[in-house]
Amino acid sequence: MISVVWLALGRLPAFGGDRRSIRAGQSRRHRGSRVIERTLRRKRTFLVLLALAAMFVLAACAGPDRLGIDSVVDSDLPQNALDPAGPAARSIDNLWWLVFWIATVIFVVVEAALIFVVFRFRRRGGTDEPVKQVHGSTRLEIVWTIIPAVILAAIAVPTIATLFDLRAEPAPSENALQVEVTGHQWWWEFYYPEYDVTTANELHIPAGRPVYLTMTSADVIHSFWVPQLNGKRDLVPGRTTNLTLEADEPGVFFGQCAEFCGLAHADMRHRVFAETEADFEAWASAQAEPATLPAEGPAAAGWETFQISCASCHTVDGTSAEGDFAPNLTHFASRTTFGGATFANTEAHLREWLRDPIDLKPMRPDYNDLEAGRVLGMPNLGLTEVEIDGLIAFLDTLE
Ligand code: CUA
Repeated sequence: MISVVWLALGRLPAFGGDRRSIRAGQSRRHRGSRVIERTLRRKRTFLVLLALAAMFVLAACAGPDRLGIDSVVDSDLPQNALDPAGPAARSIDNLWWLVFWIATVIFVVVEAALIFVVFRFRRRGGTDEPVKQVHGSTRLEIVWTIIPAVILAAIAVPTIATLFDLRAEPAPSENALQVEVTGHQWWWEFYYPEYDVTTANELHIPAGRPVYLTMTSADVIHSFWVPQLNGKRDLVPGRTTNLTLEADEPGVFFGQCAEFCGLAHADMRHRVFAETEADFEAWASAQAEPATLPAEGPAAAGWETFQISCASCHTVDGTSAEGDFAPNLTHFASRTTFGGATFANTEAHLREWLRDPIDLKPMRPDYNDLEAGRVLGMPNLGLTEVEIDGLIAFLDTLE
């Protein structure tokens, strides 16, 4: 758009044009400006077409709503950082608006001065006399050094104060909930030490109470980001970093990995469920229960398949399945999503996933090496439809 406007302005003599052709004879001038006009028109058409093409390509990226977002939140922008839902996100938002308005005032003043100067000192009456030049005005130099310095200092004070506030650990009196977060290619592991509960991709928190995350990574650098609750913070292998989340009210908040971490980075998402204190306690105590294995039927057959095909990577608490390379599935049926919170947890999605996970999400299980502790996704297990029916029935019992 900016290029199109610029090209259109370029056609006005006051904004340049082609001086040499203006200075030349009448007929040459006309021929010259006709050529320029035609070139500009062609360029402009090309840019407009390019902008339209880009718009259609980007619109096509939306794809089907596998996440079932519409059924979860009443918003087209569930990751809008300008719609804060907690104290940390609100302080970032306040700072953003402060900087935005300062920048807007500067933009308007500078552009107004620029436009004024362009019109006031434009070339007039076909004379070639140069305008009066000004060199080395000490007063001007001082003014345009001091003004930006004062503006930057004014922005720096609240910025640094906000940064320190965001980094502070909640005081013991705030009774923060502790959660340990581990980033994996390409999913999130959440461990609640107080409750001895491990879950994946969906973080449940009590509303109105700070949650102190202690984070690390099992492989490469990831970044935890729930835009409505706080800013981003990296998860670095071999180090721990911290982030405080707090939601004002119960609600569902969407987040995603914000640091490129390989093939399925875009499908490394998470959801935060902020609940009332009572709902959260009920959730945590239900999650702390071990699984009860099905005794008969398709679910029992599914458990047999699970032991052979899934147990070396997945854990189901209270059973012999103790793999720790992939999400803990003890209460899989209680989750709304799977696959890095990328697919709504429905039977249809699960069936597609079990037939061929790589078809749904880009991963590289051919590089998996369990002995070296390296897992880059779930492989195609070559399951039969009967085995898939059994696994779906078994997973459905893991409430
Ligand atoms: Cu993890 Cu991007």
